Amino acid sequence: MVRHFLKDTDLNPQEQARVLDLAAAMKANRYGYKPLAGPQTVAVIFDKTSTRTRFSFHAGVAELGGNPLIVNPGEAQLGHKESICDTAQVISRMVSTIVWRTYSQSGLEEMARYSRVPVINALSDDYHPCQILADLLTIREHLGQLAGKTVTYLGDAANNMANSYLLGCATAGMHVRIAGPEGYLPAPAIAQEAQQRAAETGGSVLVTTDMDQALSGADVIITDTWVSMGQEDEKEARTRIFAPYTVDAKAMAQAAPGAIFLHCLPAYRGYEVTADVIDGPQSLVFDEAENRLHAQKALMTFLLVESGLAEDRRTALPSVALTLNEEK
Ligand code: CP
Repeated sequence: MVRHFLKDTDLNPQEQARVLDLAAAMKANRYGYKPLAGPQTVAVIFDKTSTRTRFSFHAGVAELGGNPLIVNPGEAQLGHKESICDTAQVISRMVSTIVWRTYSQSGLEEMARYSRVPVINALSDDYHPCQILADLLTIREHLGQLAGKTVTYLGDAANNMANSYLLGCATAGMHVRIAGPEGYLPAPAIAQEAQQRAAETGGSVLVTTDMDQALSGADVIITDTWVSMGQEDEKEARTRIFAPYTVDAKAMAQAAPGAIFLHCLPAYRGYEVTADVIDGPQSLVFDEAENRLHAQKALMTFLLVESGLAEDRRTALPSVALTLNEEK
């Protein structure tokens, strides 16, 4: 069965931990893993603009020995001249993985349904699961573990990042707190799905409008832009609505001593976060950005191995993907 990564819960807790272990190993031996040797091509398709996703997938595919094929918005027939179904059946005969940044989650699901190779969500309107893998890697590097740690996300809690923090952090056994204004909270179905995952992992989920409750003693504080792609016309209203949820020094002081700050970037200093926080000693935003590279390399490798599409040269070892094509 071909494995895809369309939302955070597409990895079970054990699989998520394996991907993070592999990411750490790949970070420590950056040019030592070549599962895409051939080179095999990975299509990285963008319907929206990007810096981190574009650079990290391009570099990551090359570092794995493969050939990154970056398709910028409007460059393919997909979306205007050709259906997702036909596109999937054509390109999945030519590439080893399809990475797609697009709008609709159902479009990604359709691509996966007709693809012979793994499909990875590089951001949709509903989820940004690759970002959460990078965040989890960053948190683990700095706090030593994920299970039992408390992560608080503040601001626009009805967006793809809040959804993915709910699902991804619950999968990791974390206590996830999501806080935003009334009307900008996650859909109940997603919070419920996160609660089900947390019940399996020992984590927990809190969705609230109460910023103080969300911040108290948290180990990780996270926010995101208040104005996502396509919401530019609403900037003034959204700034007014989300202003009470700004992450500033006072907010950070309510968190646990030694708490860390994350932001997926791009950031808008003076809006969702103050400059003294994002540029201060508790901020790990550039480690977090770098970890997109390592986490996605591990993810691509994991999906290919689990789909039976990549050779595993050392299957005798218990952690299969960890040892894939490693060159010391
Ligand atoms: N965080 C993130 O996905 O950044 P880009 O939009 O620049 O890819």
